[in-house]
Amino acid sequence: MARVTDVRFEHYLPGCNLGVHETRPRLSWKLSNSPKGFKQHGYDIELSHRIDVERLDVLLANARSPLSSLVPWPFEMSLISRQRISIRIRVRNEAGQKTPWSEPAVLETGLLNRSDWQCERIAAPWGPRTPGPDSESLFRREFQTPYAIAQARMYITAQGVYEAEINGERVGDYFLAPGWTAYDGRLQYQTYDVTTMVSSNAINCMGVRVAEGWFCGRIGWDGGHRNIWGPHPAVMVQLEITYADRSTEIITSGTCWTVARGPIRLAELYDGEKYDARLEIRNWSCPNLGTDSSWQKVLALSPLPETITLTAGTAGPVKRLQVMQPTKLLHSPSGKTIVDFGQNIVGYVKLKNIRGARGHKITVKHAEVLEHEEICTRTLRICEATDEYTLRGLQCSESYEPRFTFHGFRYVQIDDWPGELEPSSIEAVVCHTEMESAGTFSCSDALLTRLYQNICWGMRGNFLSVPTDCPQRDERLGWSGDLALFAPAAVLIYNCFGLISNWLVDVEYDQSVLGGVPPMVSPNSTIVDPVWCRRVPCAIWHDVTILAPWALYEETGDVAILARQYPSMTAWLSVLPRNKSGATHLWDNAVFQLGDWLDPGAPPDAPWKSYTDARMIANMFLIQSLRLMARISDLLGKTAERLSFEAEARAALAQFHDEYVTPNGRIVSDTQATYALAICFNLLTLSQRDRASERLVYLVRKNNFKIATGFAATPFICEALATTGNVQVAYALLLEKECPSWLYAVTMGATTVWERWDSLLPDGSVNPGDMTSFNHYAYGAVAKFMYERVAGLQRLEPGWTRCRVAPAIGAQFMNASASHATPHGTISFSWKRTPVSQNVEEFDLKVSIPYGVIVEVVIPEGASNRTREVGAGDWSFQSSFSPDFEWPVTPLKPKS
Ligand code: BGC
Repeated sequence: MARVTDVRFEHYLPGCNLGVHETRPRLSWKLSNSPKGFKQHGYDIELSHRIDVERLDVLLANARSPLSSLVPWPFEMSLISRQRISIRIRVRNEAGQKTPWSEPAVLETGLLNRSDWQCERIAAPWGPRTPGPDSESLFRREFQTPYAIAQARMYITAQGVYEAEINGERVGDYFLAPGWTAYDGRLQYQTYDVTTMVSSNAINCMGVRVAEGWFCGRIGWDGGHRNIWGPHPAVMVQLEITYADRSTEIITSGTCWTVARGPIRLAELYDGEKYDARLEIRNWSCPNLGTDSSWQKVLALSPLPETITLTAGTAGPVKRLQVMQPTKLLHSPSGKTIVDFGQNIVGYVKLKNIRGARGHKITVKHAEVLEHEEICTRTLRICEATDEYTLRGLQCSESYEPRFTFHGFRYVQIDDWPGELEPSSIEAVVCHTEMESAGTFSCSDALLTRLYQNICWGMRGNFLSVPTDCPQRDERLGWSGDLALFAPAAVLIYNCFGLISNWLVDVEYDQSVLGGVPPMVSPNSTIVDPVWCRRVPCAIWHDVTILAPWALYEETGDVAILARQYPSMTAWLSVLPRNKSGATHLWDNAVFQLGDWLDPGAPPDAPWKSYTDARMIANMFLIQSLRLMARISDLLGKTAERLSFEAEARAALAQFHDEYVTPNGRIVSDTQATYALAICFNLLTLSQRDRASERLVYLVRKNNFKIATGFAATPFICEALATTGNVQVAYALLLEKECPSWLYAVTMGATTVWERWDSLLPDGSVNPGDMTSFNHYAYGAVAKFMYERVAGLQRLEPGWTRCRVAPAIGAQFMNASASHATPHGTISFSWKRTPVSQNVEEFDLKVSIPYGVIVEVVIPEGASNRTREVGAGDWSFQSSFSPDFEWPVTPLKPKS
């Protein structure tokens, strides 16, 4: 019998249902073990919640519907603050047979109203007088619980970053909470279940350590800015206790709290942490501490302005998610000790088994690469990336891990380790926003498989609270263009709906501050910078307002995200500078564009000077955005808007042709990027498209299969070739190993995706360019092509109700496998080719399909393809076929 499993609320991951801000959450579930042919005809949803101590209220809803994803909240009752509910679901087929009830899924709402917050916003008294960078502050309060505890919740946020403790134990496992948001518009808080941490009938202590973080620490390049969102950190916390007799009590932050400086004397995101163990205050968050002069009365600040929304957010927490051991201990030519973790990661290093004299200092310097066998820190720019530990020195062994900083690194240089450093004394801790893995990919080409893993690592490191450009230098910002281009691949790799949709709320807020022009980076840390706080519109970067929600919609089928972001999309298009009524629907020529940023032909110090005309690229994205707006308006039932966007798109396209395209299909900027985008954005007539594809093949072959695109066109070039019948040329480009190419970096030992095609030059030296990171996700957008063509998994309908498994046979790919966690369950498949004679091969494909997904399976047979349509279940297909493609594809050679 089929079973209902994995009941979820909205897009929350299981385990992230505590303290959410939803009053009518949509429900989703999966059907497992469904016999072939089983169809959900209807469902029953049971909700239970406690009305009071004795009474449990149980509500039932049912419907005749095949829907199992994002089913609208079926009850009249809307949820209120602090409400805990449990949901079970069962479904029935046409014959009325019912599945058993699912396991219950529990959700608890947070503090939905500002009036639920009773605590004061408190700060250290030295805060207003300290320009910073400042040490961490330890806030504490003791309290007595008069009775036995039945339940306790901690609701907490900080302007800064915090970690809470109760009775000496850390609360939760979140890193850098409350996360980064546009703090002037929105501050996230977290809810923790601390029932087992608070002692009954006893004196307890609640402590919170707070540091500057993004809120008032230094952010930005060229020295950046401090105190962007406020002058010093502050904290707000309330502990809500329900006693066994059902009486309640709220312990809040307020003037009865005391504060002292903690042992973290510097907590900078870029520069690192300086920890002096001699300054630790033993048992500072335990009861009965006693007082001394280091503890001062806190400062009560004015209430958080009502204009700042206090929200739980949807991004999910940043956590310490993996521990890695060193792979090598190296001794550099200058005599330094360098530890290699074998993987470029994001997080920090934990030191253990430290024994040495009191006051002795150990420093840990982080770097992504070595140059001349020494750590290369030049690429970090104005960013020390150095943690420092000063020993307590009490004879017993000490350990240290930073709390309020993170670094992007593969190597660390450890200076002044007392004695001999053993590899067992050091480990790396990987931190990022918790996301569910959504995809896997591997194939017979080991380098390409490694490239895929590099892309995953790059995404992990750069999805830390917000989607960032890079995790290591004095930047780490939510660059809008990078995400706009990577989002379609990102959703295939990790379930990142929560993080991206959370970030889009900030994009929209930042946009409202700039009069409709979206921010270049969000949260907009450039707001204080006269040059970079540009209200100047910029194609692609600002098209994120449309492209990112669209990627989320395609992945999940969730129209609500389009509806929510619609005002942001239209606000953007209404300020985009073009003359709608008169001469041109295209971009105003005077506007500076970043264009095909960082194409390999652009001068290293001027990445916007791409080969391809930047304004033309801007116009291509404009037409794409207008067309998407027509589709989005249609999905939202906005007919007038649809018609108007369609008309605008047509007019813009006509002018685009006048300006840039010859009748035969050559385009004025005769580059790989131009034809790739023109083909993928469908900007040409059929005959022009043929000409463009021919031209693209010519340019790729002429360039010896080396890539010539930057951020804007890289996600599209392989697909442009494949979709016009030149998949082998696409493979030649994908598999090229000479610089610039995707696999060049892999052959140079890359373990993440680089910012520049040649971040490391062929002679092994680091690119002299000032802007050189080894962990940027933009070029990793090719992961989409790897899924769709090399493995062969293509989403045909938004939300994966329909997809295709159609490997594009070619190159020397002899097998591949991939999987994807769709909203209905995981589809996974693998295929292999086995040569049986000179011109005949056998082909085997196995696919496992979840309920709710229809798959068109396309396999090679004879001299063509065979298509079968299948639904849930495990399927296997065999065929024999004659490979009829040219491989290797040859580059253009001068005629002899
Ligand atoms: C960032 C990029 C970003 C670009 C735009 C860079 O410094 O790292 O990825 O999109 O600036 O100006």
